[in-house]
Order: sequence, then C-alpha cells, then structure tokens
Amino acid sequence: MFATNFERFYRLRELLRGKEDLPMSPRAISNASKLSSGRIAVITGVSRGLGCALAVELVQKGIAVVGVARTPPEKALAGFPSSRKALLEYCQCDVRDSLAVSEVFYRIEEKFGKIDVLVNNAGVGEFRSVDSTTEDLWRRTLETNLTGAFFCTRAALPLLRKAGGGLIVNVTSVAAVQGIKGLSAYSASKAGLLAFGRALAEELRPHNIHVCNVLPGAIATEFWEHAGDASGWDRSKMMKVRDAARILVEVICAYPRVVTEEIRLMPCIGLL
Ligand SMILES: NC(=O)c1ccc[n+]([C@@H]2O[C@H](COP(=O)([O-])OP(=O)(O)OC[C@H]3O[C@@H](n4cnc5c(N)ncnc54)[C@H](OP(=O)(O)O)[C@@H]3O)[C@@H](O)[C@H]2O)c1
Repeated sequence: MFATNFERFYRLRELLRGKEDLPMSPRAISNASKLSSGRIAVITGVSRGLGCALAVELVQKGIAVVGVARTPPEKALAGFPSSRKALLEYCQCDVRDSLAVSEVFYRIEEKFGKIDVLVNNAGVGEFRSVDSTTEDLWRRTLETNLTGAFFCTRAALPLLRKAGGGLIVNVTSVAAVQGIKGLSAYSASKAGLLAFGRALAEELRPHNIHVCNVLPGAIATEFWEHAGDASGWDRSKMMKVRDAARILVEVICAYPRVVTEEIRLMPCIGLL
C-alpha cells in the first residue's frame, strides 16, 4: 500500500531494537491522505470474515479503513464499487510479529497522521482436546489472539493520541466467559484479551481513549473451516457475518456520543 522507504524502516527497526518504548516519531499531519478528511479505522484480520465485512460496512459509511492481515481481502475488493475502493487500503502483516506491526503503524502515521479507531479482530481457533493441543497450536493461538492485539494496541496509541482520542474495539468471544469443550487454548486467549481490554479501558479513559470489548457467539464465517473438528456446530444456526458487522458499525459510529464498553452478541438459539 505504501511507497517503500527502506531507509526509514531500517532506521526505525534499529531504534526499536535499542529502545522498547520508542514513541512514534512526529510527522506533519499536513501530508495526510486526501482520504482522511473523516475518520480512519485500522482493522486487523481484514482478509475475510468479520473483519472484512466490517471494513466493507465502514467504507460504505465513508470511514477510511486500513486493513491488516497476512493475505489481501480479495473477495471484498472484487465486489466493491470503484468509487469506494480508495477508502480501503490493505497492509500485509502478521500481527504476531511486533516489528512488522510497528512498521505498519509507522507507515499509517506517515500517510494519515492519526487514527480514530483500532479493531483488534485478527484471530484463530481450533477445536482440540487439551491432550491433543500441541505447543505450536497453543502458542499460535495465544500469540495471534492476545499478543497480536497487544502489539497492535501499543503501536496504535500514539496515533490515537494524535487524533485527540479514539476507540479500541477488541473482538474477543463468548468463550472468554463460558467454558466450551475443546476450545481451551482459544478460550484462554480470548479471556486474556477480555482482561487486557478491561484493564486498558481504565488506563486509557483519562486520555480520552475508550475500549469496547465484543464477545460474540457463533458467526458463520470461514473460521469454522479452519477450526478442526467442529461437528455439532451448525452454520445455518449461527449469526450472519453482516449482521454482526453492522452492530459493530453502530458501536463505532455512535462513538464518541456513546461508549459501548462491553457487548455480547449471540445467535437466538444460544451457544449452539
Ligand atoms: N466466527 C465465529 O464464530 C467467532 C465467534 C466469536 C469470536 N470470533 C472472533 O472474531 C474474529 C474474526 O473471526 P472470523 O470469524 O472472521 O474468522 P476468519 O474468517 O477465520 O478470519 C480471521 C481473520 O484473522 C486474520 N488473521 C489470522 N491470523 C492472523 C495473523 N497472524 N496476522 C494477521 N491476521 C491474521 C485472517 O487473515 P489471514 O489468514 O489472511 O492473515 C482473517 O482475516 C476472531 O478474533 C475470532 O476469534 C469469531
């Protein structure tokens, strides 16, 4: 998405190696993109599912979206009206890689100068009994769902401050508060994200940055194709991804008139 500027990136990389809490370097807002006359949202996990649906809905509302994922949101872009395409930019990034995350936010700062909303949505999950949960699966799940959200939040804060405040939306899960057989790693990661989000809300409120923790039940997305043995989870009974995305749009658009601090979205049938 951005013109490559290796010299700057490598200088940043060296600085980050030497100093963990390096604030993002100040940039003139005057060079912000012409798109950013309104609000700018960064969404992780934008290539498909809830992140992709949310990006599409926000762009329809005229909110510029920078979407982060390891693969591009090709399906969403294909059906997108060309007049709106310019409002959605894609950044390839693995949220588990703190340097890659820092680079993304550095480049967002260069281009837009600030952000108004961060949605920590990237997530993975797989049904496994505890004894068949490999160390790799455990680490991948925790590193994506929890540590990735920490990396993105930390990198986003200077840009939210530049906007004078903003909203962080954490997409956790009902599994954070309700035991679900076979989802121990996933549940631990989402409970961690919920606790992280609650602590963050208290820490950031005085700085005019607010946090919304979203706890969805089952949504019919590709998540279930990568979730291992999810037999018994009937996709026809799950929430539609567009419905869930539209509720998040309401949360984002109502802010800062209203801060929705925590929200649980469930299919009418319950947990399934
Ligand atoms: N679907 C449900 O029933 C449900 C219920 C409760 C909560 N949630 C949560 O909602 C969020 C979205 O889920 P979904 O249903 O939309 O799942 P999905 O269709 O599988 O999409 C997951 C997204 O996360 C991205 N992602 C995964 N690992 C990543 C990484 N290391 N770095 C960057 N991006 C990464 C994926 O992109 P790439 O693979 O291209 O990187 C993809 O865009 C997740 O946090 C999930 O845990 C889902």
